[in-house]
Amino acid sequence: MTLYPSVLEMIGNTPMVDISALSPNPSARILMKLEGQNPGGSVKDRVALSLIEDAERSGVLVPGKPDQVLMEPTSGNTGIGLALVCRVRGYTLKAVMPTNVSVERRQLLELWGAEIIESPGTEGSNGAVRMARELAVEHPEWVFLYQYGNPANPRAHYEGTGPEILRDCPDVTHFVAGLGTSGTLLGVGRFLREKLGDKVQICAVEPPAGEMVDGLRNLDDGYIPPIFEDLGGAELLNRKTVVRPRESIEWTRRLTEVGIFAGISTGAALAGAVKCAASLPPGEEASIVVVSADGGWKYLSTGAWTGDLDEVTERAKEIIYF
Ligand SMILES: Cc1ncc(COP(=O)(O)O)c(C=O)c1O
Repeated sequence: MTLYPSVLEMIGNTPMVDISALSPNPSARILMKLEGQNPGGSVKDRVALSLIEDAERSGVLVPGKPDQVLMEPTSGNTGIGLALVCRVRGYTLKAVMPTNVSVERRQLLELWGAEIIESPGTEGSNGAVRMARELAVEHPEWVFLYQYGNPANPRAHYEGTGPEILRDCPDVTHFVAGLGTSGTLLGVGRFLREKLGDKVQICAVEPPAGEMVDGLRNLDDGYIPPIFEDLGGAELLNRKTVVRPRESIEWTRRLTEVGIFAGISTGAALAGAVKCAASLPPGEEASIVVVSADGGWKYLSTGAWTGDLDEVTERAKEIIYF
């Protein structure tokens, strides 16, 4: 299709590209699904549209009615996706996020007309979640879609991302993605498990407890998303791989060798896929599908591609880029 009736119709159906040149194991293909190709620039466009359409179906939001306000705690990409969909559909978004976010992130939200409510930078994304939950009680008139607890988040991946992966790689043996809200892993993981049973392994990538890779969380860091518990995340995941911030940046750089300019969590997910490829028994054929959550544009000011690796890693502790 070359003519779209609306930008929102361009969400999903993202390309998958063979990046096996980066695989340490000649029997293991690595294929990357480029979610940065969505119109708002990340995998979260799918979730934003799913959350809003679900709320419209249930009557929580009414298209065309004036002065409807949504509020959401977001580590970045969901805010941008929601701001984009809200702008097109005529809603107002209030995004709750920590003070120490990058300039690009703030500007991207503001350009879509979102209002920013600041939470303490020291508390990171958990602080934004806490504050949003309090605000939801104080302002029952605001619509709180809450991606961490809303089944419309994993459903976007169960109905969209998962089927696209199976269509483009029917022999997928491993699915690897970073864990943030866990929506991607739960939705795609469930779909693939239903279709392929134990022939597919579902692998989560998370930073070590207490360390940060933007967009990702360690479940031991104090908050387990309700969707993860409600949808049996612990049983669904075959393994969790811990990837440190420095490795994430290293693999984000390596991706440029195959012409991909992606965000830092993509480097983390790729590091997980590479570890998975390296750990397979010799000669075992595998097709590892890994999700690239977003493109690299929003992270340029980290210096991640050109700066001194130690300095970039240190700086990433202070500022939430995404
Ligand atoms: C850059 C980035 N990568 C990965 C993720 C993780 O995706 P999910 O929330 O589906 O677990 C997010 C989520 O916010 C993200 O923003």
